[in-house]
Amino acid sequence: MQRQHGPVRVGMTTDILVIGTGIAGCATALTAARHGCRVMLITRGKATQTSSTELAQGGIIYRGNHDSVRALTSDICAAGDGICNPAAVRYLATHGPRLVKEILIRDVQVPFDTRADGALDLTLEGAHHLPRIIHCADWTGKHIAAALWHAVQQHKNITILERCTAIDLLSTSHHSLSAMDTYRPTECVGAYVLRQRPHGIFEVLAKETVLATGGVGQCYLYTTNGSSARGDGYAMAQRAGARLANMEYVQFHPTTLFRPNAGNFLISEALRGEGAELRDNKGRAFAKKYHPMGSLAPRDVVARAIHREMLKQHAPCMYLDISHKDPAWVRARFPTIYQKCLEHGIDLTREPIPIVPAAHYECGGVVVDTKGATSIARLRAVGEVSCTGVHGANRLASTSLLEALVWGVACGDDCARAVREQRRFYFPRVATWKEEHEHVDPALLEQDWMIIKHTMWNYVGLVRGARRLRRAQRLLGELHTEVETFYRSAAMTDQVIGLRNGLQTAQIIMYAAIRNTTSRGCHYRLEIE
Ligand code: SIN
Repeated sequence: MQRQHGPVRVGMTTDILVIGTGIAGCATALTAARHGCRVMLITRGKATQTSSTELAQGGIIYRGNHDSVRALTSDICAAGDGICNPAAVRYLATHGPRLVKEILIRDVQVPFDTRADGALDLTLEGAHHLPRIIHCADWTGKHIAAALWHAVQQHKNITILERCTAIDLLSTSHHSLSAMDTYRPTECVGAYVLRQRPHGIFEVLAKETVLATGGVGQCYLYTTNGSSARGDGYAMAQRAGARLANMEYVQFHPTTLFRPNAGNFLISEALRGEGAELRDNKGRAFAKKYHPMGSLAPRDVVARAIHREMLKQHAPCMYLDISHKDPAWVRARFPTIYQKCLEHGIDLTREPIPIVPAAHYECGGVVVDTKGATSIARLRAVGEVSCTGVHGANRLASTSLLEALVWGVACGDDCARAVREQRRFYFPRVATWKEEHEHVDPALLEQDWMIIKHTMWNYVGLVRGARRLRRAQRLLGELHTEVETFYRSAAMTDQVIGLRNGLQTAQIIMYAAIRNTTSRGCHYRLEIE
């Protein structure tokens, strides 16, 4: 349901509005700005701090020795369990390594690790048949985010608005004050935006609007994702009428630190790439029972194997063991993970790390073509919020930063082309946002999030059955009625917007899981209940 709107007022205008400041948003903004477009880049938080890019540990796919487009394509499609979009995978495999070189290495100069001979250090991760991933020790995303952010900040054509939350996309169908717009195909013309402090709501009118809002991890009790991943983009896109697909394919990362207050800290797959082995609490390696690639099998297989062993053995966690490697080498290769484990009383050079799976990546999203164009004119999506088809039913490790870069550049290029070629963009008169003033009790928001997280974890998690899904449908349905009721009269805050979007996105995932009765990739249906 849309809220009531107030009288007409002219908002801010820009060529391109980009919502989100991870690698996808920054790559889009930078590319379009370099073509001469005026770009407005908005983020809910400060700089890149809340983005998933910032948290990425493992690395980004580059080019291995004796690697090829065909070899990378084959690994991506095998992990995706038969439903990757071949054209999108080919596009990524063909353009990805070139763009890593041109933009990340040469242009913004991300300090990727090199070997003694000066060559880039290539590492391996699960389901890759050869080492082709480059990294900055074990915190690659932080370095990529910082380098891109620096470039974005320097660019005179980019206006950055921090602590600004997109509330809803503006569309000719939903917000135009002209009755005649009912008869035109829907176009996205910008967004309503909340400035958090000092409080204010304004419209941004844009020739092209780009969602780069990240994923869904916060909809689950346990997740590797930060606070940005609460499903804002999926919910806004759905409300605007865009097509979403593959939302049931939520990837669970097999290995996050199992310690109270560790916040599901990611234990990078790169450890397994460098020889770490999954073991149970008696020290027995178990992964080979589930897949010939053992600990390096595709993520969905490994996560379910861990889950299965935990249930079978009534164990709260399993273990990841790299203690057989040279301690000095481990400390240098994984300094962040080493330090974090040490803070929680684990010396990974001497003992195995207790691990559990956690929600990590949404393989589906807003359906886009190779330029990031959605099913709605002038609305684009890039990065995790989009569904390019590259990931199919399960994402291959270290493809997400690459996909965000490749589609960010393609989207930025194509937005600029559209702005250049199309002389006149239609902007309807739209109403200003009508402010409501009811204060929402934070205890209610907190509890509502708990319902979403527990329901999604227990009933729409690693293993899904018809009964569990029906239970989720009832619980989330009731909550939906509650939330929509108070949303209509609530004073707008980032938290209120986030809860509504998080709930809507949880329901999108849940309904996709109900509809799809076939186990494939990350979507695993329980046959017997
Ligand atoms: C990891 O470092 O294990 C995460 C990498 C990814 O999700 O691609």
